[in-house]
Amino acid sequence: MGATEPDEGITLYEAVGGQPFFDGLVDAFYEGVLTDAVLRPLYPDDDLAGAHRRLALFLGQYWGGPLTYMEERGHPMLRARHMPFPIGPVERDHWLLHMAAAVERLTPPGEIRDKLMGYFVPAADAMRNDAGPGLQVGPRR
Ligand code: HEM
Repeated sequence: MGATEPDEGITLYEAVGGQPFFDGLVDAFYEGVLTDAVLRPLYPDDDLAGAHRRLALFLGQYWGGPLTYMEERGHPMLRARHMPFPIGPVERDHWLLHMAAAVERLTPPGEIRDKLMGYFVPAADAMRNDAGPGLQVGPRR
């Protein structure tokens, strides 16, 4: 095992040096989102700092850090929390493009990068809420 690869038994959170890594990742991600005509309208103008904090704390917690996200927000329920935003393949791809760029900027090729992307790719797809023709065309009884 090379020196840059985490040993068995330490979390990815520890391997990347803790919360500052996730704060930096989310900084880089939002740099992309702010210039993105598809995504920018979905994010709150008046609470970008809050959105930044929620994503960074969630990711820190997800990868083995402290449970601060849960303490502040409760159970993540990410699919439910994304329901207010229309997320189809286009939104998913834009989101992933900026996250992949952030991951590439902050991590060298290797295990950590692969683990992060191995989560983000299917998780971003799981946030889609455009499934099923006719599902959202009107009130259902
Ligand atoms: C790996 C996939 C994703 C993860 C882990 C993730 C994570 C999160 C988290 C933790 C929040 C804050 C939830 C809260 O506490 O209220 C959030 C909010 C949000 N997400 Fe995602 N998300 C993902 C994919 C997406 C995608 C594909 C979109 C596409 C548009 C998206 C758009 C948003 C928006 C607009 C918000 C509201 C911003 C806010 O005020 O917090 N997310 N996301």
